[in-house]
Amino acid sequence: MAGGIGARFWPYSRRRRPKQFLDILGTGRTLLQMTYDRFTEMAEPDQFVVITYRKYLALVKEQLPELKNHQILTEPLRKNTATCIAYATYRIHSLDPEATVIVTPADHLILQEKKFTRTLKKAVEAAAEDSKLITLGIKPNRPETGYGYIQYIEKAHTHVFRVKAFIEKPNSKLAKTFLESGDFVWNSGMFVWKAKSLILAFEKHMPDLAEVFEEGVSIYGTDKEAEFVSRAYTQVKNISIDYGVMEKSSQVYVILGDFGWSDLGSWNSLYDLREKDENNNVVEANAILYETENSYIKVKGDKLVVVQGLKNYLVNETDNVLLICKLDAEKKFREFVSNAKKKG
Ligand code: GDD
Ligand code: MG
Repeated sequence: MAGGIGARFWPYSRRRRPKQFLDILGTGRTLLQMTYDRFTEMAEPDQFVVITYRKYLALVKEQLPELKNHQILTEPLRKNTATCIAYATYRIHSLDPEATVIVTPADHLILQEKKFTRTLKKAVEAAAEDSKLITLGIKPNRPETGYGYIQYIEKAHTHVFRVKAFIEKPNSKLAKTFLESGDFVWNSGMFVWKAKSLILAFEKHMPDLAEVFEEGVSIYGTDKEAEFVSRAYTQVKNISIDYGVMEKSSQVYVILGDFGWSDLGSWNSLYDLREKDENNNVVEANAILYETENSYIKVKGDKLVVVQGLKNYLVNETDNVLLICKLDAEKKFREFVSNAKKKG
C-alpha cells in the first residue's frame, strides 16, 4: 500500500511526494524501495503488487523499475485501506483463487530483517488455514494513540494466538489502560491471509464493498478495468481495514514479532531513531545551537541556522515552508496542512 499522504510529516512529506517516496533515513533508498527490498526474500519480483493513488504512478515506476505495468494498481480517489485492499484482493483472487496475500504499508522501518522474515514465514503458514486473518503484533512501550491495539488469548504450544479484541486508535485513557494491563500488543499494520479468507470477511462485515468489487471479477486484467475501477471508487465509503474488518471479525489471530519495527508515522518517531548530539538534538542542517535540547532541526540547503533556547521543538524548512512546532504536536498536523492549503 503506497497511496497515503503522510500528513504528519508535513512539510517534508507533501501531497505531491508523500513520505513513502522519500529517502527519509538518508540510506539512498526510499521507504517504498526499502519495503520492496525487504520482501524479495519472500517473493519473486513478479509477485509484487503496488497499489497507489493515480498521481503517484510515475513515482512508483521510477522508484521500482523492476515492476511491470500490470503490477501497479492505481486508484482514482483516496478511499482508505479497506478499499485499496479490497481492490487488490479481488483482483488477485480473480487471477489465482488460492493466492496468499501479504499486505504491508510501504512506509515502515524494520531494522532486523532476518527476524522479520522468520516471523512472516510463520504468518504465511498460519494463514493457510481457511478463514484465518493473521496480524503481526508488536509489544507496546508507550500509550500511543495512533495505532491499533490487539488483545489476545495466550495459549501454550502455539505461537498463533486467537484475538479477543481489536481496538483501532483508542483514546489516550484507554491506551494507557491497555499498556498497563500487559494483555495488548500493537497492530503493526501488516496482515497475511488467503485472498479467499479476506473475501469471506468482506462479505460478512462490509457487504457493500464486497458487492462493488465482486462485480469486477470478469473485468480485472482487461482493458475495461480502469473504467470499472473509477466507477467502483465513487460507490464505496472511505474507511480503513482496521475499522471495517479487523475490529469486527472473529477470525483474527496474532503472531508476536520483535524485529525492530517502527511506523515512521511522525517526526517524533523518526527523532527516536536518529543519532543525537550530546544535548539530544537531531541536526540535519548547517547549524549552531545554544541552550537547545531534545529538538529536531532539519533545514534544506546549506544556509547557516542559528538556534537558541529550544526544548522539544521541531524546525523543518523545505523549499517553500518553514515549520516550527513542538516535536510531539502530531495531533495538530492535519490542521496545519489544511490551513496552510487555504493560505496557498
Ligand atoms: N493505496 C492506498 N490507498 N494506500 C493507502 C491509502 C489509500 O487510500 N490510505 C493509506 N494508505 C497506505 C499508507 O500509505 C500506509 O502505507 C498504509 O496504507 C497504512 O495507512 P496509514 O494511514 O499510515 O494508517 P495508520 O498508520 O494510521 O494506521 C495503520 O497502521 C498502524 C501501524 O502503523 C493501522 O493498521 C493501525 O492499526 C496500525 O497500528
Ligand atoms: Mg501509518
